Amino acid sequence: MKLVRSIEELRAQLRGQNRTAFVPTMGNLHEGHLSLMRLARQYGDPVVASIFVNPLQFGPNGDYAKYPRTLEADIEKLQKENVYVLFAPTENDMYPQPQEYRVHPPHALGGMLEGEFRPGFFHGVCTAVMKLMSCVQPRVAMFGKKDYQQLMIVREMCAQFALPVDIVGAETVRDVDGLALSSRNRFLAPSERAEAPALHRTLNQVRDRVLSGASDLKSVELKAFSTLAERGWVPDYVSIRRRSDLRAPDPQELGVAPLVVMAAAKLGATRLIDNLEI
Ligand code: PAF
Repeated sequence: MKLVRSIEELRAQLRGQNRTAFVPTMGNLHEGHLSLMRLARQYGDPVVASIFVNPLQFGPNGDYAKYPRTLEADIEKLQKENVYVLFAPTENDMYPQPQEYRVHPPHALGGMLEGEFRPGFFHGVCTAVMKLMSCVQPRVAMFGKKDYQQLMIVREMCAQFALPVDIVGAETVRDVDGLALSSRNRFLAPSERAEAPALHRTLNQVRDRVLSGASDLKSVELKAFSTLAERGWVPDYVSIRRRSDLRAPDPQELGVAPLVVMAAAKLGATRLIDNLEI
């Protein structure tokens, strides 16, 4: 595997490639990321990964400084997955001048759910992903469904800018107790780690209630929200949405439109997100 830092080097390495499969990450790789590398191999060749902790998508709360940086361990993992190139630019490689041109997703998609609780997050994601796409020029790129809204926003962005790239959404990888793998799980204290699968269990209860015909979705959401709150979580949202555009379904669509339930909640100081397709 070649580790490249600069955009020029990356372009030189990838010259002539037209079937590149790309997996953008922020590092601190876990089995979820590695499953994306394996999936990428089924869609294209070579497989290119990136590791870049993108400052534009962090708020002013210190999360950027806290984000775990584990490049050595990440390189070892990627080598085992036969990744061809790892693009790991420094901040200066990625943004040699202040990044004044930015991509703002439409408010209707980027201003709700995660966008409401993390203002500026999706414009940071879109700007970085757009730039990474322009550097790597992949044929196909992998994004995890755990970040369901991110996947949809990136897919729409690529479609509206007519980027010649297919966006593939990959299933969430979970621990045996159901907790979705995430770099943030490492911040959970042992007692919080034991409690954390309750988020997935709550989403399963929502799914079961919807599948068994519940029509008052607001009360299903509220029940899930208070279940989490009673267990000591601080939920931001539990919301049942249409998969097609992440809007709330109309009553006449129930049982017809494919849905997804999405949630974000804090356990102690750690904010976790998860979702389940219904
Ligand atoms: O999901 C992530 O790891 C990041 O948001 C991404 C897509 C690499 C953009 O910085």
